[in-house]
Amino acid sequence: MGFAHCKEPDQRISSLVKLGLKTQILPASDAAIAAAADCLADGGLVGFPTETVYGLGADATDAQAIARLYQAKGRPAFNPLIAHVTDIAAARRIARFDRLAEALAEAFWPGPLTLVLPKTEDCAVADLATAGLDTVAIRVPAHPVARDILRALGRPVVAPSANLSGHVSPTSAAHVESDLGGRIELIVDGGAVAVGVESTIVGCFAAPVLLRPGGLPREAIERVIGRELARVPESTANDAGAPLAPGMLVSHYAPRSSVRLNAEHVEDGEALLAFGSTDISGIAMARAVLNLSPSGDLTEAAANLFGHLRALDQTGARSIAVMPVPHHGLGEAINDRLRRAAVGRE
Ligand code: TXA
Ligand code: MG
Repeated sequence: MGFAHCKEPDQRISSLVKLGLKTQILPASDAAIAAAADCLADGGLVGFPTETVYGLGADATDAQAIARLYQAKGRPAFNPLIAHVTDIAAARRIARFDRLAEALAEAFWPGPLTLVLPKTEDCAVADLATAGLDTVAIRVPAHPVARDILRALGRPVVAPSANLSGHVSPTSAAHVESDLGGRIELIVDGGAVAVGVESTIVGCFAAPVLLRPGGLPREAIERVIGRELARVPESTANDAGAPLAPGMLVSHYAPRSSVRLNAEHVEDGEALLAFGSTDISGIAMARAVLNLSPSGDLTEAAANLFGHLRALDQTGARSIAVMPVPHHGLGEAINDRLRRAAVGRE
């Protein structure tokens, strides 16, 4: 680890961190899926596409692999992970479903919905992945590459978004490489993702709670359950890691540039993240302009969100001005991620 004066490198740490790995990048194929499953079975870390964002997978039953995953991301170990499984039968082996959870799984799996449920007694997911909670977050992804890897491994895979902790989530294999190259064994490149924001997380508690808005709009969920979802009180969504939604770290999606929300003009030298018509004053002074969706389509905007944020961040602009985005449908998740990107930097 660069301590030339140390005779004995710290074996314990170096065996876990494995920095300076050669990260293999394979285009999605049968061979890549077999390689991914073998790598996971050996305790390795694999970046792979899901329909929401790219995930960083580890065998959910392997505590040592999960410890490496937390280190590779630089993620606080109190922030638990989502277990990905092939179908509801596999999900039932690790969590207890009540009627509401059954209805949601039936309606939306496979797809961009994560359910937080009580663990079963013999839940195979390592305690480290659930941060010692008696609940587990589960999702059945829809992306064919993710599904093939899960099937080939035959065990649940924990997978946070495949970015360094605190960065925006990756929506392409190149994003994964730029954050985690040299820290993980393999990336399976399945092209750009379809949804672009992370899954919606619903806590199936006494009353169902929207723990994180995401790729499945709240309205669709409320139609199925026939009632409103409670929202996590804003005060618990802080960096201290509230037990209800431990991962709602306020500044979770921060780019390096500062982010200025609901911009109605562009200041000299700012980059502009536009939405809809770019009829905004000062646009000629913008250092760079990217539009989430020129036609004002929220699905397209979600798919472009993280890639555009990364690209504008790379222009080195001191600030990214963001035009207002409507709050309905996927707009709730888009505005949530934008707010987090702006925290402490406005
Ligand atoms: O779309 C997604 O969900 C992506 C793809 C890769 O599947 N994954 C993802 O994982 O976004 P991650 O780790 O970036 O976010 C998972 C969130 C965190 O906020 C975490 O705190 C929360 O899920 N979570 C996990 N287990 C939980 C639990 N038992 N109770 C409450 N929240 C939990
Ligand atoms: Mg994440």
